[in-house]
Amino acid sequence: MAYQNLISEVKENILYVTINREKALNALNKDTLAELADVIAYAGKTEEVRGVILTGTGEKAFVAGADIKEFSEYNGKQGEELAKRGQDEVFNAIENSPKPFIAAVNGFALGGGLELAMACHIRIASDNAKLGLPEVTLGLIPGYGGTQRLTQLVGKGKAIEMITTANMITAAEAEKIGLVNHVVPPTDLISKAEEILNLVKQRAPLAVSAAIKAIIASVNNDNGYTTEIEAFGRCFETADFKEGVSAFVEKRKANFSGH
Ligand code: CAA
Repeated sequence: MAYQNLISEVKENILYVTINREKALNALNKDTLAELADVIAYAGKTEEVRGVILTGTGEKAFVAGADIKEFSEYNGKQGEELAKRGQDEVFNAIENSPKPFIAAVNGFALGGGLELAMACHIRIASDNAKLGLPEVTLGLIPGYGGTQRLTQLVGKGKAIEMITTANMITAAEAEKIGLVNHVVPPTDLISKAEEILNLVKQRAPLAVSAAIKAIIASVNNDNGYTTEIEAFGRCFETADFKEGVSAFVEKRKANFSGH
């Protein structure tokens, strides 16, 4: 797919998406958000895609936030619309995607950039990355789900400290508080994400999606236990369940079809 602000390609069932506005530190302007919405929808409906790695161009930034220059003249209604649309079409769409998304955080992940990483299911950071929600320095608050997802990931106390001080934290600190899953040298960032997705790729695709859905229902207080019960039941109807059990009994590796 050809985009103006993204590079996207599928290799060995992984969709690689790179936000490509290096001069603006990959800030999320409207066009980039629209392209992200498109590529997220593509990932969701394309059987060949088994997982997504999302990163930013260059060595300096993953994403330095929403594009501040674009909304400097906004009023309250426009601000609300920006947040709602962004949340619906991009941030919640990633979280609710049937495909696992890994954020490979290659530098600054600030404001909307950290919110984007937090919407992904797993975060890997390079050891030089810096993470923060600095919106209060602009007289704003996070608008792409940051108040909610940071609290879910690190708890109320740390979330309030990070958001109200606007302090950036290092990748090491982010790992310590559970904001990122792993910290690696910059040269190992993509390979670490691939290592994880290559394991996930060997598992039953529908079961992977169902498990993520139940976990997300839990953190969003959306009937997590009921979601789990129903999804558990549906798994029994899949060809992959039959294959998984047959493979176990026959002492061979399962070959899942995703059906
Ligand atoms: N929006 C638009 N442009 C941005 C940007 C952003 N979020 N972040 C950086 N840029 C641009 C700069 O304006 C600059 O462009 P010019 O060369 O044309 O002036 C270029 O990227 C390089 O940035 P700096 O010169 O500032 O680089 P630096 O090394 O001195 O500082 C930085 C790096 C600390 C990341 C700094 O750029 C910065 O603080 N950026 C803004 C971070 C921020 O406040 N993000 C939150 C945005 S609001 C938001 O995200 C709201 C929401 O939740 C929905």
